[in-house]
Amino acid sequence: MKYRLVLLISIFIYCISLNLNAQSYQNAEHHPCLKCHSSQSYSFHNSVTDKEMKRLMNPYYILDTVAMTAGVHKQFDCTDCHSSEYGTYPHQANLKLEPLSTCLDCHGGDESFATYQFEKIDEEFKKSVHYKISGDNFSCTKCHSQHTYVATARTSSNVLEIVDYSNKMCLSCHNDMKKYKLVSGHENPKLVQVHEWLPNQELHFQHVRCIECHTEVVDSLMVSHDILPKDKALRKCVECHSANSRLKASLYKYQNLQKRAESTGLNTVLANESYIIGSHQIPHLKIASIIIFLLTLCGIIIHSIFRILKKK
Ligand code: HEC
Ligand code: HEC
Ligand code: HEC
Ligand code: HEC
Ligand code: HEC
Ligand code: HEC
Ligand code: HEC
Repeated sequence: MKYRLVLLISIFIYCISLNLNAQSYQNAEHHPCLKCHSSQSYSFHNSVTDKEMKRLMNPYYILDTVAMTAGVHKQFDCTDCHSSEYGTYPHQANLKLEPLSTCLDCHGGDESFATYQFEKIDEEFKKSVHYKISGDNFSCTKCHSQHTYVATARTSSNVLEIVDYSNKMCLSCHNDMKKYKLVSGHENPKLVQVHEWLPNQELHFQHVRCIECHTEVVDSLMVSHDILPKDKALRKCVECHSANSRLKASLYKYQNLQKRAESTGLNTVLANESYIIGSHQIPHLKIASIIIFLLTLCGIIIHSIFRILKKK
């Protein structure tokens, strides 16, 4: 009797953990949000006509689940940031007005993220042309998606990957007429023409980041955030093409850092493990419940064997 109760409870815990697991981003079809927000079309029940409807999803609202699973906020669930009222569809109109947390709301003044110097980045960003021209309309999320951001410059050891990741942030807007116009209200200047003076343009854009020429190097920061006006942009070839290249102080400073990180590998691992958000994604809970389940199962089998033996 006692065993059966324990068995029932452990099956219950196991099912909950399976269900919670279904909320992870990988399991998009079973995710309450991603079943709609990760595909081209979505379906819902129309309560007025009592029919199933199928519609096309707004392409800007289709999320990249692979990139999200790799992102720094992968431990979050959607409703850690968005209102839980999004759980119903049609979404309520007033949810559009919901203020979302900014990077600084969560990271500002937090000791665990001190190495990133969020406050200093914010200070630098406020000096940039983007902020000066567009003000609060130009937020951190214009460059950094909270869904998918990865601190590539800090974590990758591949310079080409770092350059590519960084430049895509700029190009996603500077090469996208709609996004650019949304912020500025006018057409985007053609980057190829603007940089016509630079030979081997494509090669350069693969090997150096836009920010190499468009920011002043700030020694204390990994990534300078003060995008300068265009007349202050770097044009002198020798700044890079010389023994004392400025790339050593900017792009290549990561490689040194990478080596240092490797020698203290243990510390970084520990630091990453210490933060768990969204209790529904605690892997230990699942493992614990499986163990309880298996132990009870063993208990019952042993118990039954003894009973059979006793009968004999
Ligand atoms: C039945 C499909 C469906 C489900 C489930 C769904 N959404 Fe949506 N969502 C949409 C569609 C379609 C839109 C586009 C605007 C609209 O039609 O209301 C949208 C828009 C949004 C927006 C943008 C709102 C705006 O206009 O700025 C957010 C944010 C959002 N959904 C979050 C969520 C979250 C979080 C969940 C899960 C808790 C979720 N959605 C579940 C279909 C869905
Ligand atoms: C770490 C916080 C965070 C998490 C987790 C998060 N979002 Fe968002 N989401 C945001 C922010 C911030 C914006 C507004 C982006 C902007 O300002 O351009 C946003 C925007 C959106 C939009 C509007 C389209 C867009 O990309 O701008 C949709 C749709 C959306 N989120 C759905 C989701 C769904 C579905 C999930 C879970 C799978 C999710 N979000 C998880 C912070 C988050
Ligand atoms: C709702 C709160 C919230 C918002 C908004 C938010 N973050 Fe985070 N962020 C976190 C938490 C909590 C973690 C730790 C997650 C973990 O370790 O699994 C984190 C992790 C990170 C990390 C990795 C830190 C590390 O060393 O592991 C970076 C980088 C980061 N966030 C950058 C940003 C940026 C840039 C923005 C704005 C675009 C942003 N975050 C917005 C809460 C937030
Ligand atoms: C104009 C685009 C742009 C804007 C706006 C922007 N950033 Fe960045 N940020 C970048 C680029 C590019 C990188 C380097 C990408 C990488 O991590 O490889 C970066 C890197 C970072 C990093 C990682 C630095 C490190 O030490 O590893 C953090 C944290 C960060 N940004 C926070 C912010 C915050 C907070 C804001 C708003 C106050 C902001 N960013 C606004 C472009 C931008
Ligand atoms: C080798 C240095 C260098 C690199 C790399 C570089 N730029 Fe530039 N950029 C310049 C210079 C110098 C100017 C000023 C050109 C002028 O005014 O004639 C400029 C001008 C610009 C302008 C101003 C356009 C206008 O006329 O309003 C934008 C926007 C711009 N760059 C974006 C980018 C982006 C995005 C990238 C990365 C894909 C990038 N740049 C890479 C040096 C560079
Ligand atoms: C969300 C869109 C967006 C993103 C992302 C973005 N920019 Fe811009 N940028 C603009 C707009 C809009 C302007 C022009 C503002 C105006 O003139 O009205 C601009 C202006 C510039 C200028 C020219 C300033 C001047 O003097 O005219 C440079 C240089 C520049 N951006 C570089 C960058 C770099 C480097 C990145 C990536 C780190 C980047 N931008 C990311 C939208 C963006
Ligand atoms: C921001 C730094 C930077 C600036 C400024 C810069 N370059 Fe480069 N350049 C590079 C890098 C990095 C490469 C790729 C080197 C490599 O790995 O082969 C490169 C490659 C080249 C190449 C091709 C070399 C080859 O091996 O094929 C030529 C030619 C060149 N640059 C000329 C120039 C000229 C001329 C200027 C000034 C108008 C200039 N560069 C400005 C960083 C820069």
